[in-house]
Amino acid sequence: MKLRVIIVVALAAAATARAQKFEGLATTPPMGWNSWNQFGCAVDERLVRETADAMVATGMRDAGYLYVNIDDCWQGTRDEHGFLRPDPERFPSGMKALADYVHARGLKLGIYSDAGATTCGGRPGSRGHEYQDALKWAEWGVDYLKYDWCDTEGLNAPAAYRTMRDALFAAGRPVVFSICEWGDNRPWTWGRDVGHLWRTAGDIHACWDCEVGHGTWSSWGVLRILDKQHGLRIHAGPGHWNDPDMLEVGNGMTEAEDRAHFSMWSMLAAPLLAGNDLRSMSTATKAVLTNREVVAVDQDPLGMQGWRFLNDAGLEIWFRPLADGDWAMCFLNRTAATRAVRFDWRSETVRDDHSKRAAEFDRVIYRIKNLWTGSDLGTTEKALGAEVPPHDVLMVRLAAPKGEAGR
Ligand code: GLA
Repeated sequence: MKLRVIIVVALAAAATARAQKFEGLATTPPMGWNSWNQFGCAVDERLVRETADAMVATGMRDAGYLYVNIDDCWQGTRDEHGFLRPDPERFPSGMKALADYVHARGLKLGIYSDAGATTCGGRPGSRGHEYQDALKWAEWGVDYLKYDWCDTEGLNAPAAYRTMRDALFAAGRPVVFSICEWGDNRPWTWGRDVGHLWRTAGDIHACWDCEVGHGTWSSWGVLRILDKQHGLRIHAGPGHWNDPDMLEVGNGMTEAEDRAHFSMWSMLAAPLLAGNDLRSMSTATKAVLTNREVVAVDQDPLGMQGWRFLNDAGLEIWFRPLADGDWAMCFLNRTAATRAVRFDWRSETVRDDHSKRAAEFDRVIYRIKNLWTGSDLGTTEKALGAEVPPHDVLMVRLAAPKGEAGR
């Protein structure tokens, strides 16, 4: 017992001397799956195993999804030394065996904890046990930690998240560190050196434009979350991402809404963490989640988040500069009516002060590809005319002539 305490204290001291987050992780936004949106507290080892199998069988892994993340409610009690154990009924084989199972399929395992004494689901949190918990997760083979913010009255958020960052670093196993304090303490201003992603808003709900009250807090539909992202793009980049929350694709919205949600998260360079049941998803849901060209926009190596260029009474136009001089562009129809769009490239100026890129449609001719139908829409020499159905998008990639550097 004493020896363990000494080890933990020594590790803490060593960590403070050279504290940092693990660099070189999440150079593009993390992709994977998380249990919360569909299963809430109903997690167990069977679900995790079957999900890992489904990631492979459905082609999700090959499309880039890597992390299998267990959210809240995996925890049991602490042992007599204070080390946390998984719930013995839900995870009878233990976490090490589960990590081995996930790793054997070429995937990585994620886990969840909380900076307070108890998690949002009322399980033991990491407060006062940060170094012990980080050691255990390293021992089990955990690759990703989502760290929540319930029961943290009186705690300073940057300090609490730094403590866990240092604990993870001291434990020595590279872990993607996901800061989840719902944007309350402006994590985009301090999160860059602490974690690899930070939630920018409250919890998502599988609806287009709703607010669902839960007493002291609310969860939000896709558009509500989207509207909370304005002004944040300058803070994101490789290794440090804004996180508008996990995906609700396949969790009850219409196919168009799912497509729009996924498109907009890709325009935002958001983490793509599927939140549905991968074992039973429909062909339509799978088609949304595994659209490689939309995923490629999300995962673009330039790591530059998109921005809203125009809002015309519920019809929005978004741009995102991509590597190699290309651009992603998305027409988002927020409204319940079909909207006709016309975009006359030659008369528009698309300039991004943050990336210092401009599309220069008067000088550069781009080929236009519809990323949801795969069809070629010609070039930017001629104005684009199209219709966008209600709650849907038209998402295109503008391909610069090769050899033409983007400016
Ligand atoms: C908070 C988080 C959610 C989820 C739950 C788990 O609400 O924001 O994403 O992790 O806690 O209890």
